[in-house]
Amino acid sequence: ALCDIGFIGAGVMGKNLILNLVDNGYRVCAFDLDHGRLEALIEQDASERGDQPPRVEVCNSYTELLTRVKAPHLVILSVPAGAPVDDVCNKLLDAGLQADDIVIDTGNSLWTDSVERCKRYEGKLIFFTTAVSGGEVGARFGPSLMPSGDRYAWARIEPVWHAIAAKVDPATGQPIERFEPGNPVKEGEPCAAYIGPIGSGHFVKMVHNGIEYADMQMICEVYDVMRSALEMTPQEIAGVFREWNKGVLNSYLIDISAEVLDTEDSETGKPLVDVILDRAGQKGTGLWTAVGALQVGCPAPSIAEAVFARSLSTRKVLRTRAARKLAGPDVAPVPQEKRDEVIAQLHDALYCAKICVYAQGFDLMKLAAREQGWELNFSEIARIWRAGCIIRAVFLQSISDAYERDTKLSNLLLDDFFIEQIASHQGNWRRAVADATIGGIPVPAMSSALSYYDAFRRESLPANLLQAQRDFFGAHTFSRVDRPEQEKYHVLWGEAGRPVKKI
Ligand code: 6PG
Repeated sequence: ALCDIGFIGAGVMGKNLILNLVDNGYRVCAFDLDHGRLEALIEQDASERGDQPPRVEVCNSYTELLTRVKAPHLVILSVPAGAPVDDVCNKLLDAGLQADDIVIDTGNSLWTDSVERCKRYEGKLIFFTTAVSGGEVGARFGPSLMPSGDRYAWARIEPVWHAIAAKVDPATGQPIERFEPGNPVKEGEPCAAYIGPIGSGHFVKMVHNGIEYADMQMICEVYDVMRSALEMTPQEIAGVFREWNKGVLNSYLIDISAEVLDTEDSETGKPLVDVILDRAGQKGTGLWTAVGALQVGCPAPSIAEAVFARSLSTRKVLRTRAARKLAGPDVAPVPQEKRDEVIAQLHDALYCAKICVYAQGFDLMKLAAREQGWELNFSEIARIWRAGCIIRAVFLQSISDAYERDTKLSNLLLDDFFIEQIASHQGNWRRAVADATIGGIPVPAMSSALSYYDAFRRESLPANLLQAQRDFFGAHTFSRVDRPEQEKYHVLWGEAGRPVKKI
C-alpha cells in the first residue's frame, strides 16, 4: 500500500517527528540526502520497539518518494531554514510534484520567507508551513504546532497535527506527559491550532522564541543574584527552583534549569554549570523578534535585552579585560538570615517581569496582525503553548483566560487578573531590581521589564521634552496639549521671545 506522508529530512527534529507520526498510525516514507540519517532513524525505531517489524519506510530519491506516497501528496519538510527549503521544493517539482500536492515547511523559517515562498510556488504546489516547538522530545512525543497557510490544505493536515501534537488535560490545563514509544497520548486538547494565512504561524513561533529568550535570560538573572549576592551553590539554587516550580512560576524552563543546576560534571565532579563556558549562542529567532518589534514600533525591551545579553556574553575576551579594570560597588554579601527574604523578592521579580515579557510578545503579535490583516486568536495561541513547547507554563492558562474574557484586550497588563498580580507582587520586584543594581549585578531583562511597566502606566512621559529637542534642532514640529493633535507647531527658536508658529 502507498504511504500517507512523504517526509524529507531525518535530522534530530525530522527523525522524531517521523517516529511520532508512525506511532499515531501514519505510514511515512522518509528521505534524506544523508543516508546515514535514514539508517539512524530505522535503528531508533527498532531499538525503541524491541524485535517488532520496522514501521518507517525509507527511500533513495525524491522521485521514489513521490511514487510511494498517495496522491495528492502530503510532503513534510524538516530541513534547515533558508535556502535548503527552496532547494527541496525545486527538487520535488523536478521529480514531478503537482499543483494540488501540499508541502509543509516545519523549520524555524523567517516568516517573510514563508510569505515569499507561498507566492513563488503558487500554481506549482501548495506551500504550507507549521512552526514546531518543543525540541527533540517534543517532536518525538508531542510538540506544540503553529500551522499557517491555505485553509483547504489545513483541512487535510488538521487530523495529522492533532494526532501528533502535545495534549493538555482540559480539567487541569496541565500537559499530559507520556513519553512511551508506540503509546501516544490520544486524549486531551491538542496543542495545534490553525494560526492564519501564510507567514502568521512562523511570526507567532518567532514571538514564542523571543519570549523564550527573555524567559531564559531572566532565570539566568535570578540565578546570578542567588549565586553572587547570596553566595548559594548551584544545588541550593536547584532546590529553590524546584520549590518555585510548584507555584505560579511552574514551567518547563524552571524545571530544566533545576535539573541543570543539580548536575555534576562527570569528568571533574564540579557542578556542570561551572565548567560550561559563559558564551551564549543563538540561531537568530530572538533577534528576528527584536528586529520585528523595532520595525512595527512595538516596545519589546525585555526581549531585545535578552538578545543583547547573549551578544554581550560572547565578548568574553573583552569582559575578562574589563573585569580587571572597571570598578563596581563595594557591597557585602547578603547575610544568611536575609536569604529567604531575598529569594522571595526574586520569585516575585521573575513573576512580574515574566508577565511583562508576555505582554510585550502578545502586543507585538497584535500590532503585526493589524498590519498584515491577520485575525489572530490570542486565547488559542496561549492555549497551544500550554504543552509541548519550550515556554510551556502553568501561567499560560491565565493568559488564555484573559483573552477569553476580552478577545480585544489591548495589552495583557490591562487584564484584571494581571493588574492585581502585579499590584500585589511589585514591591518585591522593585526591591530585587534595586538591590541587584546597587550590588552591581546585571539584571537587564528584569529591570527593563520594570521600566516597561512603569512607562506603560504613566499618563505623561518626558517625550514632551524630546519633541521640543527635535523641534529645536530639526524643526520637526510638535502638537500642543491644549489644541487638536493634528495641528502642528514650531518654535522660532532663534527669534526674540521664541514665538510659536502654527504649521
Ligand atoms: C523551540 C525552540 C527551538 C530552538 C530555537 C532556539 O521552540 O523548540 O525555540 O526552535 O531551540 O532554535 O535556538 P537558539 O537559542 O539557538 O536561537
